[in-house]
Amino acid sequence: MEPVKVGLVGLGTVGSGTVNVLTRNAKEISRRAGRGIELVHAAARDIAKRRSCPTDGIALTTDPFEVVNNPQISILVELIGGTDLALEIVQTAIANGKHVVTANKALIAKHGNEIFAAASEKGVMVAFEAAVAGGIPIIKAIREGLAGNQIQWLAGIINGTGNFILSEMRDKGRDFADVLAQAQELGYAEADPTFDVEGVDAAHKLTILASIAFGVPLQFERVYTEGISHITREDVKYAEELGYRIKHLGVARKTDVGIELRVHPTLIPSRRLIANVDGVMNAVLVYGDAVGPTLYYGAGAGSEPTASAVVGDIVDVTRTLTADPENRVPHLAFQPDALSDLPVLPVEEVETAYYLRMRAADRPGVLADVTRILSDQHISIEAIIQKEPALDAKEVSIIMLTHTLRERQMIEALQRIEALASITGSITRIRVEQLGAA
Ligand code: NDP
Ligand code: HSE
Repeated sequence: MEPVKVGLVGLGTVGSGTVNVLTRNAKEISRRAGRGIELVHAAARDIAKRRSCPTDGIALTTDPFEVVNNPQISILVELIGGTDLALEIVQTAIANGKHVVTANKALIAKHGNEIFAAASEKGVMVAFEAAVAGGIPIIKAIREGLAGNQIQWLAGIINGTGNFILSEMRDKGRDFADVLAQAQELGYAEADPTFDVEGVDAAHKLTILASIAFGVPLQFERVYTEGISHITREDVKYAEELGYRIKHLGVARKTDVGIELRVHPTLIPSRRLIANVDGVMNAVLVYGDAVGPTLYYGAGAGSEPTASAVVGDIVDVTRTLTADPENRVPHLAFQPDALSDLPVLPVEEVETAYYLRMRAADRPGVLADVTRILSDQHISIEAIIQKEPALDAKEVSIIMLTHTLRERQMIEALQRIEALASITGSITRIRVEQLGAA
């Protein structure tokens, strides 16, 4: 059979990794796909730039639309990132009847609903395994491997850069900014690294995971998003003292009244496997009613780990080129006309436990004032640590762990505690998840 012809837009970290993997493993890949896969045309901003992959035999251009409109090409691989030009490229490819493979989570989270509708109309596939958790085949696992389950919840470390920063801060006492700079050098970070540190990238990925887990439309704008930039080394240390690790988690949970969609730093018991996932590694814990908890682990970012997922999609698409569209795995796991309209819950309705850290005047009665406010809001305390003041200091740090409560109660309590004259500045609040049985 004729090799399938592929066009690639973007020859950066993931694009060059994709060329390297396709070239190095060409034989193995064609044995799996049932035919050869030939990269014939690629676009980058600067085609004179030295690349970390071979480009001989590939026609190069600075105009992505030359690739998208090349009639020879059956599969268009989009690896430039962003949501403007990338959307135009993907829409044009679909309109041209080409299948699309992308690693672009921002694009899928924000425009996936319209992209999949257009693709279904044209009878083409849009594959996006690399968009979530880098090299971990988590989309395939949930969409196909767990198809017999009602997924109850999932929780994941789904941003490699953020996990790398938190791990280096904890293990080596390094500064936030230094570690971020290193993550950028290593090609882990997004073009705009605030997406990594402020949780936007994880929110894009959670949007996708929640859709394929629960069969709801993509709803990025409904994800509650908090980043890691306010986490201090102190918090990391106090969490350890309490038997926890701080991880930046994406959590999606189905309840009777709606779906929780939230991304935030989280204290997890240190004994959990996922609490020990460090560096650029990602892990996603998925709880299905039949299977129970399952855990998926691997590199969450980087050139070849991500290329592994991109190439896996190219092979998948190649295998199913001849299948009737209605016999293919649906983009969002559930048939498009069977998506549910379960609402996404406002974060005020979410129930979790909390870690609190506050700076308080070192004088009698302060702790009693704080605990009275908590008690007024029916918040019970599970653990409390009061640190000795540093020499000559007039303030102490108070650290608390609470039992589970509704976010609304915590917001009200924190407003009242922060208004106390004896409390300085704002209170650090980090949610706690046990991640045990459902
Ligand atoms: P890079 O910045 O390394 O690469 C982007 C590539 O796109 C470059 O080759 C650049 O060309 C090219 N490009 C950008 N704009 C244009 C344009 N207007 N016309 C032609 N070419 C253009 O990004 P990454 O490889 O890191 O990321 C690509 C995608 O993969 C993003 O969506 C990202 O979110 C996603 N992703 C990234 C991961 C990672 O670990 N890096 C992991 C998972 C997903 P030039 O090289 O000449 O500048
Ligand atoms: N910037 C992303 C991360 C790349 O660090 O996880 C992988 O999606």
